[in-house]
Amino acid sequence: MSVVTTERHGDVLVIISNNPPVNALGAAVRGGLKAGVEEALADDGIKAVVIRCDGRTFFAGADITEFTKAPVPPSFPEMIETIENSPKPVIAAIHGTALGGGLETALSCHYRVAVPSAQLGVPEVKLGLLPGAGGTQRLPRVAGIEAAVEMCATGNPVSAAKAESLGLVDLVAEEGKLAETAIAFARECVARGPRKSSAMPVKGDPAYIESFTKANARKFRGFDAPAANIACVEAATRLPFEEGIAFERQEFMKLMMGSQSAAQRHIFFSERKASKIDDVPEDTKLRDIRKVGMIGAGTMGGGISMNFLSAGIPVTILEMKQEALDRGVGLIRKNYEATAAKGRMKPEQVEAAMSILTPTLDMADLADCDLIIEAVFENMDVKKEVFGKLDAIAKPGAILASNTSYLDVNEIAAATSRPQDVLGLHFFSPANVMKLLEVVRGAKTAPDVLATAMAVAKKIRKVAVVAGVCDGFIGNRMLKPRQIEAMKLLMEGATPQQIDKVHVDFGMPMGPFQMSDLAGVDIGWHRDPTRIENVRDALCAVGRWGQKTGKGFYDYDEKRNPTPSAEVQAIIDDFSARSGAVKREIGDEEIIERTLYPMVNEGALILEEKMAQRASDIDVVWVYGYGWPVYRGGPMFWADLEGANKIKAGLEKHGFAIAPLLAEKAASKGRFN
Ligand code: 3HC
Ligand code: NAI
Repeated sequence: MSVVTTERHGDVLVIISNNPPVNALGAAVRGGLKAGVEEALADDGIKAVVIRCDGRTFFAGADITEFTKAPVPPSFPEMIETIENSPKPVIAAIHGTALGGGLETALSCHYRVAVPSAQLGVPEVKLGLLPGAGGTQRLPRVAGIEAAVEMCATGNPVSAAKAESLGLVDLVAEEGKLAETAIAFARECVARGPRKSSAMPVKGDPAYIESFTKANARKFRGFDAPAANIACVEAATRLPFEEGIAFERQEFMKLMMGSQSAAQRHIFFSERKASKIDDVPEDTKLRDIRKVGMIGAGTMGGGISMNFLSAGIPVTILEMKQEALDRGVGLIRKNYEATAAKGRMKPEQVEAAMSILTPTLDMADLADCDLIIEAVFENMDVKKEVFGKLDAIAKPGAILASNTSYLDVNEIAAATSRPQDVLGLHFFSPANVMKLLEVVRGAKTAPDVLATAMAVAKKIRKVAVVAGVCDGFIGNRMLKPRQIEAMKLLMEGATPQQIDKVHVDFGMPMGPFQMSDLAGVDIGWHRDPTRIENVRDALCAVGRWGQKTGKGFYDYDEKRNPTPSAEVQAIIDDFSARSGAVKREIGDEEIIERTLYPMVNEGALILEEKMAQRASDIDVVWVYGYGWPVYRGGPMFWADLEGANKIKAGLEKHGFAIAPLLAEKAASKGRFN
């Protein structure tokens, strides 16, 4: 059956698209819509047209998979012009999400009706693009400059109610009654006649564009697409429609040909691919997760619990002492209240989340939990003891997970009589904010346990990636060579601020030393505070534990602004002299070659050892777990852009052993992705 069909309702022709899963506007849909309108025009009995979609959503945009293929007619502009130029009024009936080309199609219609749950947006900027089918020119006319610039540059959608207040939606229909409301409205529109958005004057104050750009400069740092989106909206304020469209097209093509959009589209598809496990069928029967147990209410335990509470899943949280329990629970409340104070949560939502949290000091209270996550100290003996006890009390079939950062999940599983139910769930700090979840697959982890973990991750809005059991899994394992090399560079004459700057200029949220200061320079040092074997030990010995003590690799003021420290430089100089290193000027290029190239090399080893299923999973880990700039697509995508040959040569220059897979890619000019 055709993806687009038509239905006659008296004098109204309803054009219906049914292109699962999201009604992407591929060639067949574009052709169908154009033909549908032409059918209406050729029929004297038809006075108005409604365009609606079957399935879960209105058009969610252009079909992104077509972007890298040869164009198939009709083009977007052709279809849009046919709709807008119709002398019979065309009404878009919107449910679900009208996104990108989907909203642009709705904007080419003369009127729009939506249900209250609908979301309308132009998320192209998140793919490194701009709405290239007239969106940047029609939105400022229909919804005003302010909304247009915000929607285009951030990609954030608006609700139906907001859209109605902007003039973007003409009528909000009752939920479940969209089709009949739109048909009735279409009849009303016959007398009004078609209303072309391209013919409307631009609404609002163009001065807003400059203030918006200034206010968001930090957020948009490094990205090409936000500026291009803003430039197009700005063009709409001063150019006639046709010229504005030509400018939009030219800017769209520039972005489309650039590496940033390729990287961002790569991450869009990689994120979705990551949830698929090669050897676990998609229809695997899942275990029911209705109640979660959390062991440890420290830094991670609190944040992890919040994910479940926010998703409406009850959590029982266990600590060893009342004081630690009270502190942990207090912090969860404080975090929620801070979110509410910013207006991002309602007070009753805070209470609803807190009401399904049960604090306890008795492990027996975890007996009815379906998933139990351990986040106690990073110590194998402690973890084994916890899992041994858990084995005795957890109900049969409960999933037992460890949040360990580095430890051997198989060894932890062996402390129980049910290793098939054990896996790692490695959340990232702050666990209520960071999107990444590494799902660590033990040698004996059952397929349904893995499949359930991936489904739970989606429910709590995490991006999950499967990792094998190895030191540091995917992310921390690749972080290690970077940290080691950064310390060596200090000995050879680079400064923390120079190395950090290279990383920030590359697009990372912070460099290796700023990251150490945030996480705590003292991690691992307290076990033996008498030992002073390297710069880190020496910093800890003088109380430079990082931001929490107001000083680490940097000095911090009350607002946590960092400044370079003479004391730190003296410590670095002292160790450098003792190590016999010859100090020299270090170039930024060398910092890239020695801190980022080794990560690619480690990534290649991870792939060879099958600790990651695919190169794109590694990219997802780095984008969502460590803030690798999404416009560089993750380390393996970036390596493909750089070229394996160049990376290999750079590593060889600095004496690194080359991973066989990297050598193979270099020899064959192959790609990781
Ligand atoms: N093109 C092609 N495939 C798409 C797609 C699109 N625009 N949007 C989603 N898909 C695919 C996904 O890859 C996924 O495939 P899979 O099942 O094989 O993994 C499937 O549809 C379902 O998607 P999700 O898992 O993301 O489903 P959700 O229900 O979680 O989310 C959504 C639905 C909110 C619509 C989300 O998919 C989304 O944000 N899509 C992208 C929207 C977008 O960016 N639109 C703009 C496109 S660019 C454009 O329109 C250019 C124009 O201006 C010229
Ligand atoms: P933390 O020290 O803040 O919290 C650990 C908590 O566990 C403490 O409150 C302690 O009282 C409690 N605890 C210890 N033994 C217990 C037991 N037997 N029963 C109940 N509670 C017990 O530590 P943090 O940072 O939360 O780390 C926890 C785990 O998460 C570690 O394995 C760590 O490697 C891992 N992790 C930490 C990250 C971080 O950035 N802090 C990031 C990702 C993982």
